[in-house]
Amino acid sequence: MSTEHRIDSQSLEQFVQAIWRHAGSTDREAALVAEHLVQANLAGHDSHGVGMIPSYMASLAEGQLQLNVHARVVRDAGAVLTIDGGQGFGQVVASEAMDLGIERARQLGLAAVALHNSHHIGRIGHWAEQCARAGFIAIHFVNVVGDPMVAPFGGSDRRFGTNPFCVIFPREGKKPLLLDFATSGIAYGKTRVAYNKGLSVAPGYLIDQQGQPTTEPGVMHEQPFGSLLPFGAHKGYALATLCEILGGALSGGRTTHNATLKTDSSAIFNCMTTIILNPEAFEAPEMQSEAEAFIDWVKASPPSDGKPIEVPGEWEEANREARLQRGIPIDDNTWRQICAAAKQVGMSENELDGYRARASQV
Ligand SMILES: NC(=O)c1ccc[n+]([C@@H]2O[C@H](COP(=O)([O-])OP(=O)(O)OC[C@H]3O[C@@H](n4cnc5c(N)ncnc54)[C@H](O)[C@@H]3O)[C@@H](O)[C@H]2O)c1
Repeated sequence: MSTEHRIDSQSLEQFVQAIWRHAGSTDREAALVAEHLVQANLAGHDSHGVGMIPSYMASLAEGQLQLNVHARVVRDAGAVLTIDGGQGFGQVVASEAMDLGIERARQLGLAAVALHNSHHIGRIGHWAEQCARAGFIAIHFVNVVGDPMVAPFGGSDRRFGTNPFCVIFPREGKKPLLLDFATSGIAYGKTRVAYNKGLSVAPGYLIDQQGQPTTEPGVMHEQPFGSLLPFGAHKGYALATLCEILGGALSGGRTTHNATLKTDSSAIFNCMTTIILNPEAFEAPEMQSEAEAFIDWVKASPPSDGKPIEVPGEWEEANREARLQRGIPIDDNTWRQICAAAKQVGMSENELDGYRARASQV
């Protein structure tokens, strides 16, 4: 078992900002990327946190990730905005796309934002939370272009990405309800976290190259590659398919097939179609109290294992609270990879030591 490092979220955010400034990002871009990645760790989704930095660096070195690019509206149809991400940081272009959509939903009651050609947009809940902070409901369909990892229901090889689906519902005076998951049984990044820690994954999530069940995360990280399985058998596969079509095709982007398969790159490109709804545009004066009545009702179910019933979003909230207090845990392999990435973009040993000193080994 490898050593774990623990670092407070503020120091980690400063470290990540410094890395991207060294790489050539503006202060704003470095701040948006650092905030997004650290927030993913705080939410408990380490698969989409600072551990992504080495992959982003590789993408930058390959000339895939473009720094300091902004969301560009390629069609404005009133309630529908189609936006080209220009291969820029998803953390920047998705944030700008959501701002534009929120403004439209404020004017019109609802808006659809179709973002294509964006570098990895990370944890989708982050974009949903941006909409919820403005008071809006949001529904996100996302695909991963040309980077198959997941086998179709009944299939035995990888045909599409982990295509996340996300919905948020803001609650009065409470944290929003947040559904945010990959349509694979587990996110690819969770196999990376397990692989880096030398752990196996639970049964039912992976198949090997022959299509046989396995618990070995190495099948996703070493040749010959196996595949992830969709969650919920045919239902997860069906949802993944609609994420691919609404996320990839409707957004003006690409879907995964022979012509779009990545061959020599580790870059991750996402497309996302987001529907933003202004709850105030609905004639539903009891919306909040009806939602709360339902939440109270389901939470009153006698727990089957002694643990209280949670609603979607509470898991992230509990992690945030704990990690803000106790710091963010980072396994040794991931920490070393991040430090190597920092050196790769020219951070001096001296500066790096300053950040290393802020992380404690446990
Ligand atoms: N950008 C991309 O290409 C990409 C691809 C895949 C996944 N992702 C992101 O990866 C992250 C992790 O995805 P995942 O599939 O591992 O998520 P997950 O399996 O951890 O599921 C998270 C969801 O389940 C809810 N949840 C957890 N416990 C619950 C409980 N007891 N009761 C009710 N709800 C509960 C959470 O609130 C959340 O909505 C997500 O943030 C997702 O957006 C991004």
